[in-house]
Amino acid sequence: MLQSRPPSAPRWTVVFLLLVVLSCLFVPVVSVKHENFKKCDQSGFCKRNRQFADDAASSSWTSPYALDPASITFKNGQLSGNVLKTLKDGQEKVKLPLAITFLESGVARVTLDEEKRRKGDIVLRGDSKARKERYNEAGNWALVGGLEASSGAALSEKAEQGYTKVIYGDGGKHQAIIRHAPFEIDFQRDGETHVKFNQRGLLSIEHWRQKVEVEKPKEEKKEGEEEKEEEKKEDEPAGEDESTWWDETFGGNTDSKPRGPEAVALDITFPGYEHVFGIPEHATQLSLKTTRGGDGNYDEPYRLYNADVFEYEMDSPMTLYGAIPLMQAHRKGSTVGVFWLNAAETWIDVVKSKSIANPLSLGVLGHTDTQTHWISESGLLDVFVFLGPTPQDLTRQYGELTGFTAMPQSFAIAYHQCRWNYVTDEDVKDVDRRFDKFNIPYDVIWLDIEYTQEKKYFTWDPLTFINPTKMHKHLDKRDRKLVAIIDPHIKNTDNYPVIDELKKKDLAVKNKDSNQYEGWCWPGSSMWIDCFNPAAITWWKGLFKYDSFKGTAPNTFIWNDMNEPSVFNGPETTMPKDNIHFGDWEHRDVHNINGLTFHNATYQAMLERKKGEIRRPFVLTRAFYSGSQRVGAMWTGDNLAEWSHLQASIPMVLNQGISGFPFSGADVGGFFGNPSKELLTRWYQAGIYYPFFRGHAHIDTRRREPYIAGSPYTEIITQALRLRYQLLPAWYTAFHEAATTGAPIIRPNFYIHPEDERGFAVDDQLYIGSTGLLAKPVTQEGQDSVSIYIADTEPYYDYFDYTTYQGAGHHTVPAPLDKIPLLMQGGHIIPRRDRPRRSSGLMKFDPFTLVVVLDKAGNAKGSLYLDDGETFDYQLGASIHRRFSFDGARSVLTSTSLGGRATAKTDAFLKTMAKVRVEKIVVVGAPAAWKAKSQVVVMEEGAKESQRRKPVGFEYFEGEGRGAAWAVVRDPKVGIGKGWKIDFA
Ligand SMILES: *[C@@H]1O[C@H](CO)[C@@H](O)[C@H](O)[C@H]1NC(C)=O
Repeated sequence: MLQSRPPSAPRWTVVFLLLVVLSCLFVPVVSVKHENFKKCDQSGFCKRNRQFADDAASSSWTSPYALDPASITFKNGQLSGNVLKTLKDGQEKVKLPLAITFLESGVARVTLDEEKRRKGDIVLRGDSKARKERYNEAGNWALVGGLEASSGAALSEKAEQGYTKVIYGDGGKHQAIIRHAPFEIDFQRDGETHVKFNQRGLLSIEHWRQKVEVEKPKEEKKEGEEEKEEEKKEDEPAGEDESTWWDETFGGNTDSKPRGPEAVALDITFPGYEHVFGIPEHATQLSLKTTRGGDGNYDEPYRLYNADVFEYEMDSPMTLYGAIPLMQAHRKGSTVGVFWLNAAETWIDVVKSKSIANPLSLGVLGHTDTQTHWISESGLLDVFVFLGPTPQDLTRQYGELTGFTAMPQSFAIAYHQCRWNYVTDEDVKDVDRRFDKFNIPYDVIWLDIEYTQEKKYFTWDPLTFINPTKMHKHLDKRDRKLVAIIDPHIKNTDNYPVIDELKKKDLAVKNKDSNQYEGWCWPGSSMWIDCFNPAAITWWKGLFKYDSFKGTAPNTFIWNDMNEPSVFNGPETTMPKDNIHFGDWEHRDVHNINGLTFHNATYQAMLERKKGEIRRPFVLTRAFYSGSQRVGAMWTGDNLAEWSHLQASIPMVLNQGISGFPFSGADVGGFFGNPSKELLTRWYQAGIYYPFFRGHAHIDTRRREPYIAGSPYTEIITQALRLRYQLLPAWYTAFHEAATTGAPIIRPNFYIHPEDERGFAVDDQLYIGSTGLLAKPVTQEGQDSVSIYIADTEPYYDYFDYTTYQGAGHHTVPAPLDKIPLLMQGGHIIPRRDRPRRSSGLMKFDPFTLVVVLDKAGNAKGSLYLDDGETFDYQLGASIHRRFSFDGARSVLTSTSLGGRATAKTDAFLKTMAKVRVEKIVVVGAPAAWKAKSQVVVMEEGAKESQRRKPVGFEYFEGEGRGAAWAVVRDPKVGIGKGWKIDFA
């Protein structure tokens, strides 16, 4: 949460209150303050590189980068050499060490460094204590595996003059064709080029240069004012425009840029690919728009610079709170991608070029290439190239590098109730009681910043949260949890041991003069913990221990907000780029990783609250980077209670899913403003499909807990919540799949139907995991039907009444306010728990229902993953993982184990679940031949002789109109952890 208020100095408070009073007199018109955030041409390096791209578009342009053939060596899956950049005078060359590593997974990694900086052979401006190298540690935070070099990768003997070719990947399917001059790389799969580096000649590694400081009377430099002509270096050839090389001022802050310009940029082309996805976080559609102007397109590049963007706008390439520099390109039959491992401010231009059919290339019709241009302010050039060929390969390979989603505790995927703020411990208990009174399920209640004593984290306001221990106990009665907010800014005040220790132990981020940096945030004057420092993490861990953070309990979990970091008086509401982190790296270099290090520190702390109590942490973050998925969930920040924000949340959450961070959601109801009852209801009906499902609201909004809206809204919202709870087994199974394969939890059409071109851009409907459940949330006011796009020819059945929709194309599905449009694709078996409960914890030993949805051939399959939902024992085998399949030809439904070898922990877990049974099986699309049937035969492993073949009651129901026939097996009593068969023949 955030409302960017001015620093709360007394004078400002008065002004602010006046503003609040004044603004209440008008209808609030909310919109982002564009002037607070840079456009490309206000960020020197972006402006330079975009200009460079424009200049290079002329036909006479040749890239000045060449790989020196004499320098090339190849060893252990890695090609090394030197790329030489020829300067304008044609004489001087800048040496750029190159490494291309071919990984066992079939992924290639290209790294370019700058020799002079690497050796520290440069002079920093001012008295800067910053490191001299290009930042080369992003991988330390983002990467956790997948880096084994390929033993099979080899130089090709067939390379032509001027080229080096490397054959790699499974079965030698991949080739990197490296052109020496100009330096270019084509990445091929099966002889076809899918990714091209530097085809347009936009590679740019801004080498170190010395600024010639001209002694002259100091003048105040005004914002945007260009450097004076005479400051230019004498021997620099004419035409070099230095105006953006040195100090840069924006919004009253001056960045001293002690290392001068050092951007890295590269053009990456995806030939034949019309769609690119990824690079969250932006409030935009899934299939990315182009960024160089034209009708309906953007004219600014996508920006990745984690920032607290107040009242962010829709349909925009503006930066938001998190950054994942992973882009994938998709076309029929192929998905490829790139991961740009750089944590500095980054801009990405996207253009598409249509080529006319070439009469000479047989069979190739006109096609579209997507051309991208990546520009980062500092650091190495470090890019991973994925050659697919499927979307599943891509998410797996990216996950192997950056880690898969952590398996959450089971409560964490249920419903969360939040508000800024529940004002007292009595208020919390009261809200809790009302949920129960209205029979509305919920698992977690949240506390925003007001629970603290004067915004001092790790304290409770003694006047309002008088007995937090009692509050926790009250919640625990229904197995409910509390999430409390803890932010990275530490109040700079007297009588607060946390700030005293931070200062004394010297664990805060430093300013450019190497003093502890002080800025403004919620508490007023604050300092920021520097979690790049291992000692800071060690200290942080101690603060969460139960005897340190008094009043917390095992059912307390944590929310990390403002970790971009948000600094109210900083440039673009964040830290100055010339601040210094542990290891003497500038903030500029690590900015986008900052949130991850803090989030991770909190995760680590949650593991160690008490010796011997090891349970899966839950920590929500706002800022994120590649790798954040390993330690928690994210939400899309401070959205608005407007239909457009509800609409945008679907592609945003889908994009998180395909970008490796699927545990995501948007604030249900919208953070700012008061949603109409209709909007609130529709938002709940959509929110049940967010992997992270939380209702939240700003301090100035009216209360809007589900029981407030009244009839019929409360009942309709309750139904939606019950649907989420009923399907929790399916959701948990989808989370397990994400945690083991990197697959998204909610999936866009293209991910499920990669061959269906018509569906590539579809981003307003979603599939839940591998369940075949297809949802299309209503995101427009006054709608009473939706048009669902079906990609294949399988039957799709309405979840509630089994109405059948079949045939590729759009289908109109009724969606009056009390109806949630949800279809089941034929061919799946969906696990559910049907008994309504007050929290997910109370469902732990409930029986299951299996919904068998037959495909057109009469078959279906599905799976269920189950563990204790709490500890890490599942890693030692304490789980149940079943495969269900219905074989239409034999009319047999079976449950077989998908788990690995059983361990003692497996047996122990099975024992705890021994009494948990399947209480109902529904077969949708039941064959007419079953009409006369009144029994099926159940066979369970380990059953007594007399129970070997047990007849069980069966009922067949004829469908009406477009409704499919269905059948019900009542209480087969088979164990959920057992092998069994049900014979329908
Ligand atoms: C997370 O914390 C652990 C334990 O302190 C540390 O070793 C690791 O480097 C941290 N990782 C990130 C991404 O911050």
